[in-house]
Amino acid sequence: MTPRVTAVIPAAGFGRRMEVSTPKQFLLLDGVPVLVHTLRVFEVSPLIHDVCLVVPPGMEPSCRVELIDSYGLKKVSRIVPGGETRQASVYQGLMKTSPDADQVVVHDGVRPFLTTELLQRLLEAAKDGTGVIAAVPLKDTPKEIREDGTIVSTPDRARLVLAQTPQVFSRKVLMEAHQKAYADGVLGTDDSALVERLGHPVRMIEGSWDNIKITTPEDLRWAERILEMRQPGIGRK
Ligand code: C5P
Repeated sequence: MTPRVTAVIPAAGFGRRMEVSTPKQFLLLDGVPVLVHTLRVFEVSPLIHDVCLVVPPGMEPSCRVELIDSYGLKKVSRIVPGGETRQASVYQGLMKTSPDADQVVVHDGVRPFLTTELLQRLLEAAKDGTGVIAAVPLKDTPKEIREDGTIVSTPDRARLVLAQTPQVFSRKVLMEAHQKAYADGVLGTDDSALVERLGHPVRMIEGSWDNIKITTPEDLRWAERILEMRQPGIGRK
């Protein structure tokens, strides 16, 4: 039987590293908010049942009108206020997902270049119910450093990857991982870390270098380039 998959999209960050007042998920890319680019991938994927969107507290009504209704996004069934950290925001969203969902896929609202193909490969790999994340191999040589910048060691690059989103887990396991992290006061930088610490297996599949997280102003310029490469002519309007 096909599993029922719900997406949780954390988009409740305030974008303090962007040096602009608008949070990065609402900045325009080819005239369309970054977050709408992201949500459209879930909208068109037949593997996604519904979407729980997490936004900055107080912005639920405006997001409903200006993003969801304006752009005709039908799969966003819930809009939830986020928390102080990404982890808290995901947890808020997760708690609002239907218990009927078998799996939950978490994807950053500020990664607009996810493709339906990557999403499909991820969900295919997770068919057995285990956790699967998108990740890319390291291109540069990693260094472990002390606080003063002195190098401590050179870890083997062949065994290291950079974790991205999407990340998919069984809803039950992800819920347990978040509850336990909250109870233990643990803050992870991704959801996989919370699942890993409970001893559940998580595997990676090859993500994409285009699947960037728009964090800084340079990222936005890079995003415009990626869009231009995908849809030639866009930047030249
Ligand atoms: O930059 P950062 O890794 O924190 O952001 C990743 C995603 O998490 C972004 O889509 C951002 O909006 C979201 N986030 C959130 N709640 C926070 C902080 C970040 O939903 N408190």
